[in-house]
Amino acid sequence: MIPLSLAQIARVTGGQLCHGDPDAVVSGEVVIDSRRAGPGGLFAAVAGERSDGHDFAAAAVAAGAAAVLATRPVTVPSVLVADVPAALAALARSVVDALPAVRIAGITGSSGKTSTKDLAAQLVERLGPTIAPAGSYNNEFGHPLTVLRADAATRYLVLELSARGIGHIAYLCRVAPPRYGVVLNVGHAHAGEFGGLDQVARAKGELAEALPADGVAILNADDPRVLAMAGRTEARIVTFSSAPVSDAPVRAVDIRLDDLGRPSFILLTPEGSAPVTLRLHGAHNVPNALAAAALARELGMDLDGIADGLGAAVARSRWRMEVHQRPDGVTVINDAYNANPESVRAAIDALAHLAQGGRAFAILGHMAELGGTSRASHEDIGEYAARIGDSGLAGLIAVGEEAAPLLDGARRVRSWTGEALAAPDGAAALELLANRLKPSDVVLVKASRAAHLEGVAAALEGEAGQ
Ligand SMILES: Nc1ncnc2c1ncn2[C@@H]1O[C@H](COP(=O)(O)OP(=O)(O)OP(=O)(O)O)[C@@H](O)[C@H]1O
Ligand SMILES: [Mg+2]
Repeated sequence: MIPLSLAQIARVTGGQLCHGDPDAVVSGEVVIDSRRAGPGGLFAAVAGERSDGHDFAAAAVAAGAAAVLATRPVTVPSVLVADVPAALAALARSVVDALPAVRIAGITGSSGKTSTKDLAAQLVERLGPTIAPAGSYNNEFGHPLTVLRADAATRYLVLELSARGIGHIAYLCRVAPPRYGVVLNVGHAHAGEFGGLDQVARAKGELAEALPADGVAILNADDPRVLAMAGRTEARIVTFSSAPVSDAPVRAVDIRLDDLGRPSFILLTPEGSAPVTLRLHGAHNVPNALAAAALARELGMDLDGIADGLGAAVARSRWRMEVHQRPDGVTVINDAYNANPESVRAAIDALAHLAQGGRAFAILGHMAELGGTSRASHEDIGEYAARIGDSGLAGLIAVGEEAAPLLDGARRVRSWTGEALAAPDGAAALELLANRLKPSDVVLVKASRAAHLEGVAAALEGEAGQ
């Protein structure tokens, strides 16, 4: 963070300084978790459902924080504001304005933001000091807190922008105005809250609208709703495509997957072509890699650097397509981070690929926030799973009542010979699987975040060889 005095913080946030020296300087990290408060930092007290950050104000200062951002009086040096997220946003914007040389990229889409952000960050870091959020730090808290990490040495910000409604992305773009905007796809994630795909497209397109005339909109040519955003921006358009035939300037052709589902392809750009092999699993990471490549190219990286960087990039965020091979020959795909119809289909495709020659099992929890289409979406996914390969899944285990329509969908497939199994919770799912698994079987574990199936995946991974 660039050093700011408490007086400056009060001015920028429109807050009131209490118990503090106006010239005291915040130079450390801004945090909302008091346990992470450190020397010279700023602790933003947030009242949550379970605990209230204000109760930890003194502890944060004892741990070295220079001051606290608070909405009610505390006994330590503090800046009192009406609204903490708004104050963080104002602070972040002032930092961005003070660092005009920093080039800002925003990445949005329904699926793959974190995967793409992690790939893009690993490329852009090769060009210069880069700040990118950890994991999915992409909302009204995580976004400004990430931006606030920037300082005079920073050259690039690679940001993940999420939306649960109209106006959210426009807001994040005001906090840190991007010159480069990447839109990956428009899918059903949070579609229930949005009220349909057209509304999702409207929301994601706010990124394109926020870009300046000298900016660049990097759009997925394979998604018509994304491509249509070209009409909503003043920025120059650069498209990417993994379709066999396309006029997009950044493309992947000759896409192949190895035995563990890791894609390799020829990266085509106007400057030439280069072979790329990803360390990430799943064909859906090809468009993510192309988006990252198109961004790095706009930032001045040459083709060899991009191909090399993509080949070296690792999965930085947990529980997204982690493939774990147990000594007993069972393969576990831990994709438990989150789930929506598109990402479950992508994961089932990867499962089908990995299970060639073996049997496929899927432990699936429910997909949240799909609104009125929820039941039908679960049935469709169940049907999709039952149709993979020659004989479909050997077993589909639906965890929890809300996931049960997956089984109804699978049973619609008359030719399917696999088992449809209902498990009330993760432990029951593990039990059902335990006496069925054989060497060379492949198991996918996936559900919405709220289901916390990562514990199930971890248990399966830990069983290796026991
Ligand atoms: N391009 C893609 N198309 C479909 N599914 C994808 C794509 N990229 C990643 N996924 C899958 O979607 C899930 C979420 O991936 P990731 O965390 O990268 O997305 P996200 O957009 O950041 O999600 P969130 O909205 O939860 O932050 C994972 O299961 C991942 O395997
Ligand atoms: Mg994310």
